[in-house]
Amino acid sequence: AKFDVVVVGSCMTDLVSFVPRLPKAGETIHGNKFLMGFGGKGANQCVMAARLGANTAMVAKVGDDSFGQRYIENFKQNGVNTDHVGITKEAATGVAPISVNANGENSIVIVSGANDILSEDDIKSAKSVIKSSSVCVCQLEINPEVTHYTLSLAKKNGVQTIFNPAPALSWLDCFYYRLSDVFCANESEAELLTGLSVKTIEDAEKAVIMILERGAGRAVITLGGKGSVIGTQENRMPIHIPVTPAEPVDTTGAGDAFIGALAYYMAKFKDLPFEEIVRRSGEIARATVLATGTQLSYPTRKELSPTLFSKNVPRNR
Ligand code: RIB
Ligand code: NA
Repeated sequence: AKFDVVVVGSCMTDLVSFVPRLPKAGETIHGNKFLMGFGGKGANQCVMAARLGANTAMVAKVGDDSFGQRYIENFKQNGVNTDHVGITKEAATGVAPISVNANGENSIVIVSGANDILSEDDIKSAKSVIKSSSVCVCQLEINPEVTHYTLSLAKKNGVQTIFNPAPALSWLDCFYYRLSDVFCANESEAELLTGLSVKTIEDAEKAVIMILERGAGRAVITLGGKGSVIGTQENRMPIHIPVTPAEPVDTTGAGDAFIGALAYYMAKFKDLPFEEIVRRSGEIARATVLATGTQLSYPTRKELSPTLFSKNVPRNR
């Protein structure tokens, strides 16, 4: 394949305020720090895969403004192919005002802007890139129809698909599950989609089975500090994958780092057991919660333990 990972999805400029607690309706509070960073779920996932060493391409749309220009520059600096990052005059580059409280928890407002203009025709123009990738990753921060079109295109061409149903929706047509080789959701996304409460590992096990029943090849539910739960069509019995404990500073974009890592491993470490791929992805996501910012906190390969890049499963597990 020409590319290891292609991501079809969103770009947002993150406007991050650090606050003692999240504001209530009608309330004004003082923040103690501000930063601007590159975000958007699709782009985050792509940049994470690139920093780990995947050969990546992004299919997206930005506005004809300084945020958009800067975003394209950011992709280039991370070695991401931008041949299919279009610029539109019809809307502004997406923005995401984010508040992060003292516990590292966040609340996010998204103004999609140019992301909503990414169309089926744009995907058709990017067809050769999608077809020549090992893994194609999609989310729901662009028009869901476009995501559906992309997943079917990838599937038809034998490209492995990862679908991340984020931000959360309460209902998804069955074809999204069936088109997902890997369907990866967090607790709140899994709750909304299954109607179950997903707080504990046992809850997540039930949700995993439901996602498999709806037709996903593999299901992954991430549980933050509790790690994740996975299941596959070959073995529907859910497995819990723990993660090394951490004291989070800023969890924004940790889920995206997980997906980006997953894509990287699925493309570059095809022979690793899926459990081990998920375990390593969890460790990489964990590393990102220890620093502030979204992509700002994403490590490169050389900042991570070499054991995460070993071709073998560590013997002491
Ligand atoms: O998942 C985190 C991302 O969600 C942020 O970067 C923000 O842009 C929103 O899209
Ligand atoms: Na972070």
